Amino acid sequence: MALIDLYGRKHDYLRISVTDRCNLRCIYCMGPEGVKQIPHHQILTYEEILEVVKAGAALGISKIRLTGGEPLVRKGILFLVKEIAQVPGITCLAMTTNGILLPQFAAPLKEAGLQRVNISLDSLKPAVYRKITRCGELAQALAGIEAALEAGLNPVKINIVLMKRINHREVPAFLKLALEKELHLRFIEYMPIGAQGLEHHKYYLPLSYVKEQAARMGLPLTPAEPPPGAGPAETFSLPGGKGTIGLIHPISRHFCASCNRLRLTAEGYLKSCLYWQDERSVRPALGDPVAMQELLQDVVRLKPEKHRMSPQQKPGLLNLQGMRGMSKIGG
Ligand code: 5AD
Ligand code: SF4
Repeated sequence: MALIDLYGRKHDYLRISVTDRCNLRCIYCMGPEGVKQIPHHQILTYEEILEVVKAGAALGISKIRLTGGEPLVRKGILFLVKEIAQVPGITCLAMTTNGILLPQFAAPLKEAGLQRVNISLDSLKPAVYRKITRCGELAQALAGIEAALEAGLNPVKINIVLMKRINHREVPAFLKLALEKELHLRFIEYMPIGAQGLEHHKYYLPLSYVKEQAARMGLPLTPAEPPPGAGPAETFSLPGGKGTIGLIHPISRHFCASCNRLRLTAEGYLKSCLYWQDERSVRPALGDPVAMQELLQDVVRLKPEKHRMSPQQKPGLLNLQGMRGMSKIGG
């Protein structure tokens, strides 16, 4: 049996937020004081997460991504990676991280069975990086990227949320990075979600800007084969570049029609769409594999056809999770 929704979309991808906690405070994700932390006892245990993974795998889930918050701040994360890697049917295991802890974790993660990482890196200037993350050291994130490459996590993807006036002038420097290193950069449109006080219309910039900048540098972007697990990114190569450039437009060109993903929040809620409030707790189904599979199927049946975010987003008009940021829902 497979997880097919009312619109014929097959779901084979589960994103799991293992914690809402984070060692950074990115401006597009949370307010300056961070998020109100969920008490430990309300967070799913690793054993509980594994029950959901196994039920999903029985229904055709083959790809898992661990997210947060920052997944590497949760104690014992290597145990979870090792266990998920051994679940029959799971063929792809990835993680989204800010990279700060990768110098110590990259090699053991690889050994535990993690295949690839996406690392958030929104600036290449120490002061701007600190401004965006509110407390991060650029050098640590860069060391994390090197550690991931060295450990053989492959591909290494870099997430850049493009924000007007904050980091848009760095597009050329990022393009150079993709010329020089085997890194897969993905520019992401800034979404009206999670960031308290960061007015969306002031900072939103469509990704056509990246194409314009590349053309201006004499490095026209040409459509290319996406790296494994590229998801909704449009992928391009740069003339002579080792890496690739991906553009992810959740807003100006949404990719709901091909959406194959489900999400599990740290507290144990299954969500069929990032931008939708409907969610179901997995707790009543714990300990009962059949009930867990039924629950997954119910959630897929609740999935909306598409989200309704737009560049002219007015807060409060949508069936969004209000200001619940990515750290709570796992990107
Ligand atoms: N808009 C766009 N991307 C976001 N992310 C988090 N919040 C937002 C937002 N408001 C993404 C970033 C980050 C990842 C963890 O989640 O890409 O790298
Ligand atoms: Fe942490 Fe990621 Fe949110 Fe930044 S975007 S504060 S790294 S969870």
